[in-house]
Amino acid sequence: MPFAHITGWGMSVPEPVLTNEDIAKIVDTNDEWIRERTGIRERRIARETEFPSTLGVEASLKALEVANLAPKDIELVICTSSSPEYIFPATACVIQDEIGASKAGAFDLLAACTGFIYATNMAAQAIRSGSIKNALVVGTETLSRFVNWKDRSTCILFGDGAGAFVLQASEKPGGVISSVMHSDGSGANSLILPAGGARLPATEATVHEGKHYIHMDGKEVFRFATRVMGQATREALDLAGLTTDDVQWIIPHQANYRIIATAAKYLKMPLDKFVINVDRYGNTSTASIPIAAIEAFQKGQIKNGDKVVFVGFGAGLTWGALVAEWTGPLAVARKPVHPERYRFFARIRSWARRIGRIIEGLFARKEL
Ligand code: UT7
Repeated sequence: MPFAHITGWGMSVPEPVLTNEDIAKIVDTNDEWIRERTGIRERRIARETEFPSTLGVEASLKALEVANLAPKDIELVICTSSSPEYIFPATACVIQDEIGASKAGAFDLLAACTGFIYATNMAAQAIRSGSIKNALVVGTETLSRFVNWKDRSTCILFGDGAGAFVLQASEKPGGVISSVMHSDGSGANSLILPAGGARLPATEATVHEGKHYIHMDGKEVFRFATRVMGQATREALDLAGLTTDDVQWIIPHQANYRIIATAAKYLKMPLDKFVINVDRYGNTSTASIPIAAIEAFQKGQIKNGDKVVFVGFGAGLTWGALVAEWTGPLAVARKPVHPERYRFFARIRSWARRIGRIIEGLFARKEL
């Protein structure tokens, strides 16, 4: 059975920074309260021209470059987002088209902030089953579009960004070792975007009542999160036959510094084994785990051969953890691939296909 290695990684965050002081000009809050209760100092907010797909494409191209893999060799694109581009089509298809992953199947996976763990696990399972060799997993968010900027209990928390992993098959041991996924839909109302779906389609009333914004029972989510983070980590480690002593880094979902500190206490692990960057990006939902992992690798914290645990929780309610050995790009002799260059050809191919469909439509009409 092949192993599923994480061989490429890339992140993209919007440039504009929104500090706690900036938010204090909009709602009744202050820097001290936000830092003490959440650990957040600032977050990035997407420009009008930035979407989950544009951030996701940037992150994906960087990941392909690290893996030295051409987009046409990707067989599966899984995009995970709590703020997808549309209800349909899938944001994964927009990304697939933009990067020129012309041979890939593509779908979106919704497991809120746990999405990146679910998606990485699904991609790894597809590789381990032998049905595919190369997959791209993208976690991307512009949740700032769904934040009620009048609600001080939520608008301080969220930020925008994207992270992507390339997963590849190899006979060499390593990569994704174990994973657990959990859900409890009885807690659906604790963190919800009530309108815009089939139950409450957009109407003047839903807009007026603010039902297209994030609604959250912060205390309830906090209690749930502090309970499941440590438990899921233990479970995934048990499945892998490892203990916390075997692990170099825990990469938790970046929602709140206090939640991470409580998980560290539960696991009896020093906090400096936890990658934390919530102070600079806030909660970027599905993107938070890959962004934290990539920064830790770039800073030289995570090294090849390290065992890492990704652990997260979110709306659903969902939670899960994944244990992996960070092995780096596969050692395959191949000419350097420059995925950015493929983007140009991907655009041409995309337009050619659109024109092709128009011509096909004209002929089809004549035949009818
Ligand atoms: O990816 C999953 C996403 N969600 C989460 O991870 C959220 C988990 N929950 C949390 O992180 C925390 O519950 C929050 C940070 C959201 C809130 O912190 P808290 O310590 O649970 O505060 P609280 O809701 O109990 O509010 C305490 C007080 C309240 O005032 P009173 O009733 O004591 O007078 C709030 O009105 O703080 C007030 N408050 C604020 N004050 C200043 C709430 N938000 C703010 C604010 N600035 N931004």
